[in-house]
Amino acid sequence: MRKKIIHLIDDEKIIHEIFKRIFKSNEYELIISENKSQAKTHHTPDVDVTIMDLMIPGSSGIEIFKELKKSDPEIKIIFLTAYGTIESAIETIKLGAEDYLQKPFNNIELKHKIDRIIKGEYIKKENIQLKMVLNQRFSFNNIIGKSRILMKTLSLVESVAKTNSTVLITGESGTGKELIAKATYNNSNRKNDPFFSLNSSNIPDALFESILFGHTKGAFTSAYTDKKGVFEEADKGTIFFDEISNLNPETQSKILRVIQEKEFQPLGSNKTIKVDVRIIAATNVDLKKRVEENKFREDLYYRLNIININLPPLRERKEDIPLLAEHFLKKYSKENNKNVNNIDNKFMKYLLNYSWPGNIRELENTLQRGVILSTSNTLTYDLLPTEIIESDSKNILKGSYNEQIDEFKKQLIIQALEKNNWVQKSACKNLGLKPTTFSELMKRLNIHK
Ligand SMILES: Nc1ncnc2c1ncn2[C@@H]1O[C@H](COP(=O)(O)OP(=O)(O)OP(=O)(O)O)[C@@H](O)[C@H]1O
Ligand SMILES: [Mg+2]
Repeated sequence: MRKKIIHLIDDEKIIHEIFKRIFKSNEYELIISENKSQAKTHHTPDVDVTIMDLMIPGSSGIEIFKELKKSDPEIKIIFLTAYGTIESAIETIKLGAEDYLQKPFNNIELKHKIDRIIKGEYIKKENIQLKMVLNQRFSFNNIIGKSRILMKTLSLVESVAKTNSTVLITGESGTGKELIAKATYNNSNRKNDPFFSLNSSNIPDALFESILFGHTKGAFTSAYTDKKGVFEEADKGTIFFDEISNLNPETQSKILRVIQEKEFQPLGSNKTIKVDVRIIAATNVDLKKRVEENKFREDLYYRLNIININLPPLRERKEDIPLLAEHFLKKYSKENNKNVNNIDNKFMKYLLNYSWPGNIRELENTLQRGVILSTSNTLTYDLLPTEIIESDSKNILKGSYNEQIDEFKKQLIIQALEKNNWVQKSACKNLGLKPTTFSELMKRLNIHK
């Protein structure tokens, strides 16, 4: 196996020694740079993890990071910060650093963070970053589907959008919660005001309050200037809290206070700031259950859950699959400069039979993969991932003995009816059944033309 390459950028000899001790096993290769020019020479895209001090003689760590990122956009970096330099830590996370660690650090924690990056366990960077989605228009045009259940959901979105009510969007992973949150915003009277999206699960606790509420100059060691928080920036607009169940209890109470009192105080300030912000939250866990387990504040739950928009899993609206599949086919064909414009019947049959635990996102990935791998203008079933093909053969064995017998009877009757142009009398004769038995079966098995 290839050695994992760790690149340390720090001028302190003592830190070099600590790293040499932690990464002495032959699983790792340690490269050390003491300044900017060494860092630039030593860095290659083969480096698995870079660890850099924020204060490097002659230039700032952030400056070096920006330069390294130009040559290696995928660079994975952890910053070492002096105690209390929270302000700069926020900067590094915004710029796309994976994490930060305060000096003096705990060796085990450092190694743990590095190993997590190597294993790819850090969630995509974009989730950590504050996403300000201005001028991006999501009406309902990009929401594909025609099922009754989706239409009902969209009409709820439409009527809720214009109100100022808090909205809680629930649904399994990949059902389109973020898409619906943006649609709610874009159909609201606040659509020309800011929309901020925050993923609660990946912002370190220590940063979260400062990000939300801002701070004043001197609130902590590195707070050199006043800094506005998201609540203040989003005044008159909307904040979307994605995966709200992950908020820590302290932040939960603070958010509750802003919702109730429409005001807050930045860290280190006794000035009260009034804001008018609409909150939309989303979760894929059962928040009510979290409340029962004392992991989520009940009062906050009720404040958020004034309107609940529940997105149905894809397996409950299979009639949307063909439309969605066509949509993603076009999208990825265009994106990849390919001319795939056809889905063959067998491919579609598998799509319709599969249970889609990852919902629309999984369907999207399946189509994307198919388009990329295809060598003709048609998607054929061999372009499907094995789990979909294999789960189909398991489906045949689904259901109890009686259920499967009924399914078999149903197929027999439908076949006979189709052969006889749905003339019941002839189909019944074909199968050698009594007319009464035949019509009873049709009724019980819910068979219609
Ligand atoms: N009705 C739809 N029409 C077109 N695309 C959709 C639809 N619903 C979801 N998608 C697409 O599916 C993907 C997943 O949607 P989204 O990110 O909104 O799901 P989510 O519920 O937030 O998932 P998670 O819980 O994993 O965060 C996105 O690429 C989104 O654009
Ligand atoms: Mg989401």
